[in-house]
Amino acid sequence: MKFTLSINGQSHQVDVSPETPLLWVLRDHLHLTGTKFGCGITQCGACTVHIDGVAMRSCVYPVSTAVGKTITTIEGLSDKAGLAIQLAWQEHQVTQCGYCQSGQIMTAASLLRNNPNPSDEQIDSIMSGNICRCATYPRIRAAIKTAAKHLGV
Ligand code: FES
Ligand code: FES
Repeated sequence: MKFTLSINGQSHQVDVSPETPLLWVLRDHLHLTGTKFGCGITQCGACTVHIDGVAMRSCVYPVSTAVGKTITTIEGLSDKAGLAIQLAWQEHQVTQCGYCQSGQIMTAASLLRNNPNPSDEQIDSIMSGNICRCATYPRIRAAIKTAAKHLGV
């Protein structure tokens, strides 16, 4: 079936089965490979994208459900909170192997959009669904706090 998707401000048409996970459409059909496959069962957060501004796991999100929604991937993360997060990530040199990091950044950007001045506990709670095998958690938390500061809170 053909589906038209709005991704990073552009319209894309794909011809796939309705239950195809959005992650495979992004990576295999549209070559937006910044979004990663980790577990495929909502447990790691590597596949996180924004759908209508909310952080969602694209590995279990059927493409048919994404029609008519605004999808943002790491390649298109350019709102104020998203840019502040990316700058703070560089400042704190958060990334190690990098595999989990687009998912971390997408979750962190969504967190700051909803809560511009999160406490350590709130950061840990929201970010706990994003697994980092390199254990960059302390730098992630510090970068989120720096991004919040840069956003003027
Ligand atoms: S790949 Fe989607 S949560 Fe792990
Ligand atoms: S930076 Fe390596 S898994 Fe997170």
